[in-house]
Amino acid sequence: MYHDKGYYYRDMVAGVNERIPDENDNPIVPINFDNAATTPAFKSVLADIVDFSNCYSSIHRGTGYKSILSSKVYENSRKTICDFVHCDYRKNTVIYVKNATEAINKLSYAISCINKDCIILSTRMEHHSNDLPWRTKFIVDYIDVDELGKLKIDDLKNKLEKYNGKVKLVCVTGASNVTGYKNPIYRIAKICHRYGAKILVDGAQLVPHFPIYMKSSNKDKNIDFLVFSAHKMYAPFGIGVLIGPKETFLCTEPDHVGGGTIDIVTDDSVTWAEPPDRNEAGTPNIMGVIALTAAIRTLRHLGMKNIDDHEMNIYYYALSRLKKIPHIKIYCDTDYKCDKVAILPFNIKGIHHEVTAKLLSQMSGIAVRSGCFCAQPYVKRLLGISEEEMKYYQQNRDVKRPGMVRLSFSLYNTYSEVDVLVETLKTIVRNRSCFR
Ligand code: ALA
Repeated sequence: MYHDKGYYYRDMVAGVNERIPDENDNPIVPINFDNAATTPAFKSVLADIVDFSNCYSSIHRGTGYKSILSSKVYENSRKTICDFVHCDYRKNTVIYVKNATEAINKLSYAISCINKDCIILSTRMEHHSNDLPWRTKFIVDYIDVDELGKLKIDDLKNKLEKYNGKVKLVCVTGASNVTGYKNPIYRIAKICHRYGAKILVDGAQLVPHFPIYMKSSNKDKNIDFLVFSAHKMYAPFGIGVLIGPKETFLCTEPDHVGGGTIDIVTDDSVTWAEPPDRNEAGTPNIMGVIALTAAIRTLRHLGMKNIDDHEMNIYYYALSRLKKIPHIKIYCDTDYKCDKVAILPFNIKGIHHEVTAKLLSQMSGIAVRSGCFCAQPYVKRLLGISEEEMKYYQQNRDVKRPGMVRLSFSLYNTYSEVDVLVETLKTIVRNRSCFR
């Protein structure tokens, strides 16, 4: 059988071996295959939060020793973040936000201050968070996906050519939260730069699972902007990160204004502080920063490549077993060599996705997400749903909506958890006439 590193990683994650009551109050140890939504905390994160509580104080707002210490820890953390994603600390600024969604909203505001009339390219495989903030402020066009849901790089080139220098930013996910496909971000960066556009990578589903290099040995391949969320990387304490060139934020006004964002305020004028202070209104989330830096230390200690290896082994094992179950339709490339993070979307033919998800929970305590995963234009394409059908759902809110079931694996998942999943799915499939 397989050597299961999941058991080794498991000891580092809070709560994954704990019993909780099910709906009948029977104690169960649930199985979590919904890590793309959020991950449990590392024990190291909780320990650091408790330790730091002894020193906790206000950031940038006090002369007490605890305040000085807290402020120092807060500021030094920005370097830790830069090192983790391999970016140039002198040229970039690290702005703390709530999550990747807030980061993209913030960036869209900043870009709209610099260039209102430019065209933004997003893709048809984005999470709504890397689509809607752009729609509300710019003319947006979308790079298409092929029949497997992979990004069409030729379409990127065609669109950059067509818009002839008007595209200033290309917004692309590092890894899809629906199919798990990793995009060739360094290649995309090179193409964007050739046409005078910058690239934003939504790293929410990539950064927790795979090493990322904002700075490359070939500067054409540098990633200009990166966002990610700590709650998907074992640090669920309400913090996220936006990284980008200092100059972008230096020449734009902050989207949120107030405490901490200013240098001088007179009766009728304001001089803003330098970034990142001008972009972090209100008292900073130091506990979030403590959590995120603790998680980064643990991830680095484990090694991102080792994490990727284990997660993808679990994924391949699940894929190989699901492929053999009749009546299961998988909505991503089922080739074992595709460049992915460990996400597997599927349906059981004839059973609504919500029913499958509920049965997995009720029968075996397995947590998954079902629906469209905040990526409706992408899921619509993968399911082959027309725009007319989407309009029908828009007008008929009570009708059951289409969607999929999503398995998203993480470092602490084990082969035996996948075995439980497979046996449960087989039982559901065998009895599927009861669940239609
Ligand atoms: N974006 C998160 C997900 O895909 C919440 O589940």
